[in-house]
Amino acid sequence: MTVRLKGEVALVTGGCAGLGRAIVDRFVSEGAYVAVLDRSPDGLAALKEAHGDAVAVIEGDVRFPDSHREAAAKSVERFGKLDCLIANAGVWDYSTALVDIPDDRIEEAFDEMFSINVKGYVLAAKACLSALYDSKGRMIFTVSNAGFYPAGGGALYTGAKHAIVGIVKQLAYELGPHIRVNGIAPGGLGGTDLRGLKSLDLQDTSISTVPLADMLAGVLPTGRMATATESTGAYVFFATRAETVPLTGSILNYDGGMGVRGFTEANRGSLLDEHFAPKETVGCVSHRRHTATGAPVDGESRTQKG
Ligand SMILES: NC(=O)c1ccc[n+]([C@@H]2O[C@H](COP(=O)([O-])OP(=O)(O)OC[C@H]3O[C@@H](n4cnc5c(N)ncnc54)[C@H](O)[C@@H]3O)[C@@H](O)[C@H]2O)c1
Repeated sequence: MTVRLKGEVALVTGGCAGLGRAIVDRFVSEGAYVAVLDRSPDGLAALKEAHGDAVAVIEGDVRFPDSHREAAAKSVERFGKLDCLIANAGVWDYSTALVDIPDDRIEEAFDEMFSINVKGYVLAAKACLSALYDSKGRMIFTVSNAGFYPAGGGALYTGAKHAIVGIVKQLAYELGPHIRVNGIAPGGLGGTDLRGLKSLDLQDTSISTVPLADMLAGVLPTGRMATATESTGAYVFFATRAETVPLTGSILNYDGGMGVRGFTEANRGSLLDEHFAPKETVGCVSHRRHTATGAPVDGESRTQKG
């Protein structure tokens, strides 16, 4: 197999679970060395067990500058350089509406959200500046569909992810031509453990308990939610050197097409089915639902009737 990141060194925040863990696994399989900053001691031990000397682990909290300084220093100390920062650790507000946040918790909830999801990225970038200047490296920030549209979170999460969009653009400008800065905005993902805000008593709630796949099947032009593992390809691409010469200040909408979904149905793929599907598959209800649209399809009821 051709590896695309041979000898590259990445630092991933929140690399113990979900998307971060999938990125670490993928980067190692692509020949990279990866340092991981995370607050989960068990998750870090599991990473060491899975990848041995290909990973360096740093236990810390992304809210604190010292954790990032230690992570950046350890990346260079262990692997000789740092090519790519992936700022990714985050929490969710479980779409809690502003009106439902108790008055005596709003400040704490805001501070917790912004200190992890925004300050955690800025501090990571700050701590890695000198190493990335030396390597002419890159930064990749995990955004979210909530960086572009409402209803992917509450005002706190949506506000924090919109802030990341601005920070990517500003840093791409400030750090060019030495360091490239880009973002990737996934939609809802399978196989993650995204937790909620402690200040809203949601720290033990996992997104894996939310029926996201069912919710998204009917509204995504792609017809289904992607898994975290299926969403790592863009991170590899954004981390490569040869393929990203013109790339900085970009944010990839990597969310199943949320921005292009229709009003009455998520996509018009049923038309293609009607024109091109082999006759024997027309009438296969599950096929039609998944390949075309989760919304009721004209042809579906027609073929069901006979
Ligand atoms: N899961 C989704 O559906 C989804 C969709 C769009 C965007 N995202 C974004 O993807 C990123 C990763 O989310 P995920 O779903 O993989 O979550 P996850 O909970 O599965 O993984 C997050 C990791 O970050 C770590 N972490 C959390 N807070 C930390 C802190 N303060 N300090 C250090 N480590 C911390 C956790 O221990 C965990 O290992 C987040 O930025 C999230 O907003 C997730």
